[in-house]
Amino acid sequence: MKIGIDKMGFATSQYVLQMNDLAQRRGVDPDKFSKGLLLNALSIAPITDDIITLGASAADSVLTEEDRAAIDMVIVATESSIDQSKAAAVYVHNLLGIQPFARSVEMKEACYSATAALDYARLHIEKHPQSKVLVIAADIAKYGIGTPGESTQGAGSIAMLISAEPHILELNDNTLAQTRDIMDFWRPNYSTTPFVNGMYSTKQYLDMLKTTWTEYQKRFGTSLADFSAFCFHLPFPKLALKGFNKIMDKSLPTDLQEKLKENFDKSILYSQQIGNIYTGSLFLGLLSLLENSQNLVAGDKIAFFSYGSGAVAEIFTGKLVNGFRDYLQPSRLEALKERTVLSVADYEKLFFEEAELDEKGNATFTDYKTGPFALKEICDHQRIYGKSND
Ligand code: CAA
Repeated sequence: MKIGIDKMGFATSQYVLQMNDLAQRRGVDPDKFSKGLLLNALSIAPITDDIITLGASAADSVLTEEDRAAIDMVIVATESSIDQSKAAAVYVHNLLGIQPFARSVEMKEACYSATAALDYARLHIEKHPQSKVLVIAADIAKYGIGTPGESTQGAGSIAMLISAEPHILELNDNTLAQTRDIMDFWRPNYSTTPFVNGMYSTKQYLDMLKTTWTEYQKRFGTSLADFSAFCFHLPFPKLALKGFNKIMDKSLPTDLQEKLKENFDKSILYSQQIGNIYTGSLFLGLLSLLENSQNLVAGDKIAFFSYGSGAVAEIFTGKLVNGFRDYLQPSRLEALKERTVLSVADYEKLFFEEAELDEKGNATFTDYKTGPFALKEICDHQRIYGKSND
């Protein structure tokens, strides 16, 4: 049975910070961001747009009534949790009107967990071929004003509907994960922003890529020559480019090397305008590739490198399905230009605003721009979500 990604939805915030503005304000050469990190802009989420609203928006953009009746599992993969107990998936299940007899859970391992969620979904469909699983990767990457990570923030979500006989990508069951107990990036419960050993994290990312890919090729008798594209976790596109150069096999025919590089360049286009969306960024790379590359055809194989700090990495692969383009949108690069540009001063206020709760646990918010869903208020310590125009 073929199992894989049937539909893909995407959402990001309605506000954007231009890297050139940030560079100027921080006294940094703009080339450091545009060439050193390969980033042009970062999506900035206001307090009323969080993993619930972004995740629900991404899924709502692609789900039909039939899908909502068939989904029996909702998984939200995130490291920007809004609650230590209640799963984000429960809120999302309600906002999307999914039938009640469904399992809803949240998964965590830094930027990696959506990959584990995909595998869980695949195994579930294998046992229950009629059902569909909604996997949502949603995050807000927030490092803090003036920190080294500030230039690699971002906000957004990717939703993937996993089913039998999928319309976009068939998942291969040859996957290989690697775990290393390291402190490259972590966020204790008492902190709203992560602690980061930045340079160390980039070295670990690249070493986990090299060692996992070497073992993957050995175990499954495959090589780069079998693939048309390689998608990477994208904390910032320049690191993925270093990863791409690391796995490139210079003995491959020049036209294949060129095709792989062309597809790599297409896979980073959305991230260059959005920044890091943690769990979703690998899949944002896939969406960017599929909606912008002209050279892919059904049957082409794509390899994926997933990396979550802490750290867990995984290599998995998939094959494009006949008619996959019919289930995608044309390039979203123009639509991304419609976000409201923030000054650095406004970004500093908007991105780092915290709820001001009164003694009864109530808070109200400014009516910021969001997608179809918004956090309306906090009432008696309960987060109240709804349609943004209600
Ligand atoms: N013109 C052109 N390039 C310039 C330049 C200029 N004027 N000035 C600097 N650069 C280049 C540098 O040479 C460097 O490129 P190379 O690595 O190719 O040499 C690049 O710009 C970055 O400059 P720095 O080395 O000075 O590094 P930085 O201060 O910008 O910090 C970082 C980089 C440590 C990664 C920081 O952005 C950070 O901490 N980010 C958060 C952590 C992160 O994303 N880690 C990635 C792995 S962990 C992971 O993947 C999980 C996750 O999502 C967080």
